[in-house]
Amino acid sequence: MTMTGTYDYRETGLCFPTNFLLGAATASYQVEGGFAEGRRGPSIWDTFSKTPGKVWNGDTGDVAVDHYHRLEEDLDLMKELGLEAYRFSIAWPRIQPQGVGQPLRDGIDFYDRLVDGLLTRGIQPIATLYHWDLPQALEDAGGWPARDTAYRFADYAAMMGQALGDRVATWSTLNEPWCTAYLGYGSGAHAPGRTDPEAALQAVHHLNLAHGLGIQRLRETASNSPQYSVTLNFHQVRSVDEYSHAAVVAIDALANQAFTRPMLRGEYPRDLIDTTASVTDWSFVIDDDMEQIHQPLDLLGVNYYSTTTVRTWDREGTKERHDGHKDVGGSAWPGADEVEFVQQDGPYTAMGWNIAPDGLEDLLVSLHQKFPDQPLMITENGAAFDDVVEAGLIHDVERADYIRRHLVAAHRAISRGVDLRGYLVWSLFDNFEWGYGYSKRFGIVRVDYETLERLPKDSASWFAELIRTRRIPG
Ligand code: NOJ
Repeated sequence: MTMTGTYDYRETGLCFPTNFLLGAATASYQVEGGFAEGRRGPSIWDTFSKTPGKVWNGDTGDVAVDHYHRLEEDLDLMKELGLEAYRFSIAWPRIQPQGVGQPLRDGIDFYDRLVDGLLTRGIQPIATLYHWDLPQALEDAGGWPARDTAYRFADYAAMMGQALGDRVATWSTLNEPWCTAYLGYGSGAHAPGRTDPEAALQAVHHLNLAHGLGIQRLRETASNSPQYSVTLNFHQVRSVDEYSHAAVVAIDALANQAFTRPMLRGEYPRDLIDTTASVTDWSFVIDDDMEQIHQPLDLLGVNYYSTTTVRTWDREGTKERHDGHKDVGGSAWPGADEVEFVQQDGPYTAMGWNIAPDGLEDLLVSLHQKFPDQPLMITENGAAFDDVVEAGLIHDVERADYIRRHLVAAHRAISRGVDLRGYLVWSLFDNFEWGYGYSKRFGIVRVDYETLERLPKDSASWFAELIRTRRIPG
């Protein structure tokens, strides 16, 4: 297999220091199931997945991998694998079924048990407040394009800070707000499935505001010294030719700088305002919003899977749309009408995403150059492949190889001076892959969706060995 870049990213035997955190990640709607337990309210993903034609095969998260009922077994499995950290998300509608009002005891209890179960097993809890399951009632009231949703989020953050703030090691406000805003309100590929470009940009701003207000409210309630973070899915954008600089600038502005610049610098960049000028004048940014958003972060979470390659469209022929997301009609890129997303070189994962560990190295180095004092953590990296069970075993060589190459890339970034604090694999389990339902398997642990039995794949043993030895195994 040939890889792009000067190095083939196959080196093994590289060592990570003991304080480099190694663990795995999941998210509430993707694993929990128990959708009606404890008076949990409906989220936008319950509604969306039950709308015909939205999710592959009509799959829903009603049962998912039933983590809600199998918590102890799953915690034991994490311990067996030696995970040092577990990144999970809290289902907002388990806490506030309507997105407002007093927290439900049952909801808090579940996350209490999860956090305590992690701590007794010596695993650091990394809690994300929002991984896409907005209470449906808040969507009905306007969703993320409405400013009020940011205030509701801040109240919810305070509640969770009060409940778990004495034990959570790291808080993350949002997971991939890019997806929430642009796939949820722009392309319509994700819940709630709206296709309104201005609403997508309003969502960007109100997610940023929610993040800033959320961090402040968490800080007020913490009784230990947790770390504060957010997780972004950066687009490592490359250009196909020397004439396509404008396309790179537009996509970098929409995908990356729309979040990093307000969060880390307290401003929206000119490139973003210019790119989106035909869609909005950003008059929904008011008062001291930018100050509220700009809060110091202990960690910036980086989710990375593949690269993006663009070209400035010459308006001849049909525009290619290989941006790695389901093409559902609406645009995930408001204002970027002159950008063409081109097919990238393989190899590819089962998602059709190109495998490019050099992109991770480049991304980490460029983030470090832009924000030199900002510690980083890889909060997601991993791959879906079509696993085969052979005599009760899963020899998922490609997945282990994918993880290995990206760890080598991370190691190389560290040796180039990047302050990278850890790596969390996506995902601990096979789970509900949003619009793709259960058809795509990202887990290092297989889930049999008939019996719900968990079966660690070879990649899980490989990862466990890495954690045990701190050395990238062969
Ligand atoms: C990003 C998301 O945070 C996660 O929910 C998703 O399953 C993975 N990437 C894979 O697409």
